[in-house]
Amino acid sequence: MSQSGQLAVAVVEQVAAVRLELEDRLGPSVSGFESLGQLLPRLGAAPTVVVLGPSCSDASILADVERTIAGRPDVGVVLVAGELSTTILQLALRSGVKDVLTLQGDTLQIAEAIERVGVGLTIGGAAPMAAATQPGADTGAQGGGARVTTVFSTKGGSGKSVIATNLAVVLAQQSEGPVCLVDADLQFGDVAVMMKLAPVHTVVDAVSNIDHLDTALLESLLATHEPSGLRVLPAPLEPAFADQISANDMITMVNILRRFCSHVVIDTPAYLNDVVLGLVEESDDVLLVAGMDIPNIKNVKIGLQTLRLLNTPMEKLRLVLNRANSKVKLDIGGVERTLQVSAEALIPSDVVVPQSVNKGVPFVLSHPKSGVAKAVRSLAEILSGSDAESRRLHG
Ligand SMILES: Nc1ncnc2c1ncn2[C@@H]1O[C@H](COP(=O)(O)OP(=O)(O)OP(=O)(O)O)[C@@H](O)[C@H]1O
Ligand SMILES: [Mg+2]
Repeated sequence: MSQSGQLAVAVVEQVAAVRLELEDRLGPSVSGFESLGQLLPRLGAAPTVVVLGPSCSDASILADVERTIAGRPDVGVVLVAGELSTTILQLALRSGVKDVLTLQGDTLQIAEAIERVGVGLTIGGAAPMAAATQPGADTGAQGGGARVTTVFSTKGGSGKSVIATNLAVVLAQQSEGPVCLVDADLQFGDVAVMMKLAPVHTVVDAVSNIDHLDTALLESLLATHEPSGLRVLPAPLEPAFADQISANDMITMVNILRRFCSHVVIDTPAYLNDVVLGLVEESDDVLLVAGMDIPNIKNVKIGLQTLRLLNTPMEKLRLVLNRANSKVKLDIGGVERTLQVSAEALIPSDVVVPQSVNKGVPFVLSHPKSGVAKAVRSLAEILSGSDAESRRLHG
């Protein structure tokens, strides 16, 4: 079977025309097979990514796939379905398929999925060379140290999502390892819209596979913000799905992300629920965002009191004052005295913020020289700095 570098790629599709189309799209090093049965005796020593065509979106074929790849860390499977439905997605992921795409989709997306799955494969128990440094690899204790930052506020519209997205983009630009932004505003999350992403998968797909979720599977479900390389776990597309996701599910996902990311940033809704409390507890830093008006400050004070009552370690709370230069006649010192916390970041008010939100381009990219972008970069520096400090303290 033909191989590309260390990795072999095989297409399995019963319908000849579709098989040839897939082979054609994926390049000359790809081999085509009519059935899984035909492919099996040809599986060689090299790690192999099997691309299943649309005719394989069938329960009995996927059951065969599951049996075939059980105990074979050298074989990874991607399904290219005719059309994507929740049933096919669940069936495929439960059978051990690592990613599901559609035939109508971009060829580049299929190629990227093959590459991601390939990185997680092993030859005779040893990881291929790239695996130790690639995001798809389960880096275990070695890489198990992402810093987790939750962006929170008890007031709606205070700027959480704007700050979370821009901060995550800056961290993605600066970090060596992957950075992931998790949209934990499960009902009304708008991170994907703010970054002009059209996600194929969301947190719902991760939760429906929570029992066998590993780094490779979770990574395959993340969207990529191409301009910055930031990985994104988007909120459900329908508010009703939020009920299916528990605090434990979110914590499980964040802990898996910790293994292969350098930094995880979490955007949250404007209220304290089980999910938010669980994430606050898991986080290394909690950015408490307050807008510069009296209702904001009042709500943040109540939020702070609640977190204190819940024994949240105060040292991980960092006050971020948003729209801090507005001519709103609120003095920063007064706000800090009221909240009994000093502000670690002052984000100015700037018209480029709503402009960039409407364009779907984070302002740190569209207006890197603006005051808001500088403020977010300083915040990122504080978080990276405390990361280093914490690593020194804890070993
Ligand atoms: N520093 C700023 N300067 C100007 N406008 C801002 C600033 N921060 C936020 N905004 C505006 O406020 C709006 C609300 O911000 P954002 O969506 O980030 O708030 P949020 O706290 O996530 O809201 P929600 O609670 O609804 O999730 C944004 O569309 C943005 O245009
Ligand atoms: Mg928001």
